[in-house]
Amino acid sequence: MSDGTKDADRPGDGTRAVRAGLPEPVKHEPTLPGPVFAAHFHLPGEVTGPYLYGRDDNPTWTLLERAVGELEAPGREDAETLVFASGMAAISSVLFSQLRAGDAVVLPSDGYQVLPMVGAQLEAYGIEVRTAPTGGDAQLELLDGARLLWIESPSNPGLDVCDIRRLTEAAHARGALVAVDNTLATPLGQRPLELGADFSVASGTKQLTGHGDVLLGYVTGRDAEAMAAVRRWRKIVGAISGPMEAWLAHRSIATLQLRVDRQNATALAVAEALRQRPEISGLRYPGLPDDPSHKIAAQQMHRYGCVVSFTLPSRARAERFLAALRLVEDATSFGGVRSTAERRRRWGGDDVPEGFIRMSVGAEDHDDLVADVLRALDESAG
Ligand SMILES: Cc1ncc(COP(=O)(O)O)c(C=O)c1O
Repeated sequence: MSDGTKDADRPGDGTRAVRAGLPEPVKHEPTLPGPVFAAHFHLPGEVTGPYLYGRDDNPTWTLLERAVGELEAPGREDAETLVFASGMAAISSVLFSQLRAGDAVVLPSDGYQVLPMVGAQLEAYGIEVRTAPTGGDAQLELLDGARLLWIESPSNPGLDVCDIRRLTEAAHARGALVAVDNTLATPLGQRPLELGADFSVASGTKQLTGHGDVLLGYVTGRDAEAMAAVRRWRKIVGAISGPMEAWLAHRSIATLQLRVDRQNATALAVAEALRQRPEISGLRYPGLPDDPSHKIAAQQMHRYGCVVSFTLPSRARAERFLAALRLVEDATSFGGVRSTAERRRRWGGDDVPEGFIRMSVGAEDHDDLVADVLRALDESAG
């Protein structure tokens, strides 16, 4: 694994994060200009220039898109980033803009729980949807004749990892485009375009923004024609980010490396502590050396994420455990500075046991958090 902090020809991740997307300094202007609230812009005469109407573009998005692009695709002139109202808006923009009736798409069978709903909608539009699990590169078997391969690695909530480069080469050999959901890794954990993918797509709601107060999504792509279609989709559907959300996201990216390094290190410590407990089964964290995902994760990831998954013996035990936690909120989503955990089966969507817990590790002190988890396990035993 590269430690992700420094490549020979560019500054380290922390340096790049704090400066990502900043405009050239202008005397008496702020370093990061505030949000531009505008439904329309002055537009005398010809309809040309960057800012015409607020659904099409906004200067606050421009700076955020530059920032995300610098992290997802450093040094790549051919890459473009577009921000959206949410991760789902970004995901839908790629799938619905690239696929036509009669096309086939390969989705993960163990991806984010709203993905099957998107699959059902694609089927209603006459698109063939094929699914296979993330682990074992099982999607490879379904690529013949496909137009697009959708990868989610690490997968949510099971934390399986597939070989992105291998799958991408196989998909490209068959003429298929490849999109990777990079939500769990963040661009500091994984850079799908460098692994060959055509699109890196993510929910910025999670660790990218990291405070649990913003919904956001983005698509970074390197095919100009495909990205023009994604942009057109954003205009048609209007799933745009508000300027305030875009600005909060940009401000948050400055601390991305700090948060990611802290949260991910604590996630590893929590996983190591959980591993000692006999009541826990199915413990998954790609950073654990004996995790089934570790080998391939170590090849393609720079950091392993802040999510740990595990299973307690029953639903009742899992509910008691969650209720006993003091520093970890029972809430969905992940990636925030405050730890959260939930019993994933309560949503009904994921194919996981009743006692399956997805825990998102925050920025609390590592000793406090590990102690809280171990105490909650003890208290929930009876
Ligand atoms: C892997 C993954 N992708 C996409 C999404 C959707 O993101 P959003 O909630 O911002 O629409 C989520 C949300 O949990 C997710 O976990």
